[in-house]
Amino acid sequence: EERTFIMLKPDAVQRGLVGEVISRFEKKGFKLVGMKLIQVHRGLAEEHYAEHRGKGFFEPTVGYIMSSPVVAMVWAGKNAVALARELMGATNPANSNPGSIRGMYGMDISRNVIHGSDSLASAEREIALYFKPEELIDYKKAGEEWLSE
Ligand code: GTP
Ligand code: MG
Repeated sequence: EERTFIMLKPDAVQRGLVGEVISRFEKKGFKLVGMKLIQVHRGLAEEHYAEHRGKGFFEPTVGYIMSSPVVAMVWAGKNAVALARELMGATNPANSNPGSIRGMYGMDISRNVIHGSDSLASAEREIALYFKPEELIDYKKAGEEWLSE
C-alpha cells in the first residue's frame, strides 16, 4: 500500500480549512496513518524545499511554512501519491481544476493551502523528514475491500 506525505500549510490552519481538507481525503478513500500539528523550524523548512534552493521563491516559501503551525499527515492507499496530487490540483490555483482542493480554496501560488509529495521517492524522503517510524500506524480500516479489487 502506497503512502504519501501531505501538509496543510499555515494558510489552511489559519483559515479554518483543516477539517474540510481532511474530509476530502477521507471521502476519497485514503487511510490516515499519521498526523500531527507542528511548528516548522528553519532547518526543516529548508530541508523540505531543498530542491528549490537558489530560486527566487525559495526564501518566501520557506518563510511562509514557518509562519504559523502546519498539519503534517501521512495518507495511504492504492496509487496514493498520484491520486493525492490530483485531489490537490495544480500548484498555481489559477490553473487548478475548480473541483480540486487548491481550485476550491486557493487564490494564489504562494498561499496554496496544501503540500503533497510529487513522487514515490519524494514521499519516502518527506515522510522520514517529518515522522518517526513509530508515529505511523499500520492498521486495517473498515470498508477497505470496497475501494479496489
Ligand atoms: P508543494 O506540494 O507545496 O511542493 O507544491 P508543488 O509540488 O505543486 O510545487 P513545487 O514543489 O514546484 O513548489 C513548491 C511550492 O513553492 C509551491 O507550492 C508554491 O507555494 C511555491 N512556488 C512554486 N513555484 C512558484 C513560483 O513560481 N512563484 C511563487 N511565488 N511560488 C512558487
Ligand atoms: Mg513540490
